[in-house]
Amino acid sequence: MILPVRHHAQRVAEDDDRTRIAPVRLPYEVRADHTKVHDERMLAVIAAAKAHLGTEVDYFSRLRGEPVAPAQFARLHAFATTVAASYRGPMLAYSLELARDAMSSLAALRAQGGVEVLMAAKAMTPGPVFDLAARYLSGFDVSNEGEYEKLPRVLAGKTVFVTAPVFPRALSAFTSRDNDLVVTLDSLAQYEALAAVEGPVDYCIRLSTSKLLEQDSHFGVPPEAHDLLQRMITCGRHRFRGFHCHSGWSTSNTREAYVAMARNAAAAARRLGVELAYLNLGGGICFLSMRELEAMVGEIKRVLPERTVLFFEPGRPLTERAGFALGRIEAIVLRGDLFDLVVDLSSEAHLRWTDPMLIVPTAPPGSPTIRVRIVGPTCAESDVLGVFEVPAATGEMPYRQGDLLMFGDVVGYSACWNVGFNGRPPAQVVHFDGPGSP
Ligand SMILES: Cc1ncc(COP(=O)(O)O)c(C=O)c1O
Repeated sequence: MILPVRHHAQRVAEDDDRTRIAPVRLPYEVRADHTKVHDERMLAVIAAAKAHLGTEVDYFSRLRGEPVAPAQFARLHAFATTVAASYRGPMLAYSLELARDAMSSLAALRAQGGVEVLMAAKAMTPGPVFDLAARYLSGFDVSNEGEYEKLPRVLAGKTVFVTAPVFPRALSAFTSRDNDLVVTLDSLAQYEALAAVEGPVDYCIRLSTSKLLEQDSHFGVPPEAHDLLQRMITCGRHRFRGFHCHSGWSTSNTREAYVAMARNAAAAARRLGVELAYLNLGGGICFLSMRELEAMVGEIKRVLPERTVLFFEPGRPLTERAGFALGRIEAIVLRGDLFDLVVDLSSEAHLRWTDPMLIVPTAPPGSPTIRVRIVGPTCAESDVLGVFEVPAATGEMPYRQGDLLMFGDVVGYSACWNVGFNGRPPAQVVHFDGPGSP
């Protein structure tokens, strides 16, 4: 039941300017199925994930379908309360405890044998999350010298993949941390650049995913380009190690799609008469729950030769459950049958590549709700954080000007893109700890 707005118009007129964390009482919820008004495709993803999990979950993170323990929420609440007391502007806050949990569950895939998980360095600002990755994961995926420079100082025993549409100026720039290095070739031009390097260097060839997935890709060599691949699998003293495939974040990245990618890569290798030492399936796995990932890895291993080592290089999954954003309501405007809450947190400047989920108090099923649109403070029409249905148990508009709102599912990419715009400063980026964090 959605309350008609006329019940709330009066409340809005009484705006004042205090800072309280209005919707952040225990227990929390980030329930994608009822808090955010989604497109149909996302609803299908949510329905599939819920069917997979069963109905007994009381917290549901859209992206991974995994519960966050009440104690972890309690720590988030304590953190938000501290922030509210001395609020100085929008904030992107990452829980090291939750990032560590994400990494250790992904690293557990190694138990299946011949599976390695790297961190996509582009997916977070350098700092404590990188240190966690160096501890829990098998290495990093980087695009260039600049990213490599930001990695933790000691990477002995770890692997670094370099994957980019531009071939690096000097490969020696990627070995100063004592790591193993694998370079991915995106094109014939990159092959020629590698041929000119003394080496020997381990390399993979990036296969295009265009024919497999719904989105066209401008990266990689088509798996059916047999003659080109035949040429690229020998390159002077360099060692061809296998294939790399990556598909960006999309709901079409299903378990079946990844199995098909692996099958396709294995078939291309058979046609070329080579055995794959490595198959790197990149990132884009954020719509798969851990259980699905585990099953998928088992399935993929069955279509690959036993000795092939499977790599993943997730970015989003490392931080999406760990990342939160805080912003303050600066104005409440009634537009037609919808309240616009104007916050100082901008989807364009502070939340790039994030689909923020408003955190609201849990309400009994059937409680009245009200629909609000949360918009950023800038001039951009696209500066919209989302339309949400929020519990309004007392029949009143639950928000007031000056309230702090908290959002979940904030990915590390947002911290990387975070900029000031339109006279608004960038958001502050902070990390907060829980037990067991470094
Ligand atoms: C080559 C490569 N690997 C891994 C990733 C990380 O992907 P995700 O953040 O979807 O996990 C990216 C992201 O763009 C990428 O380009």
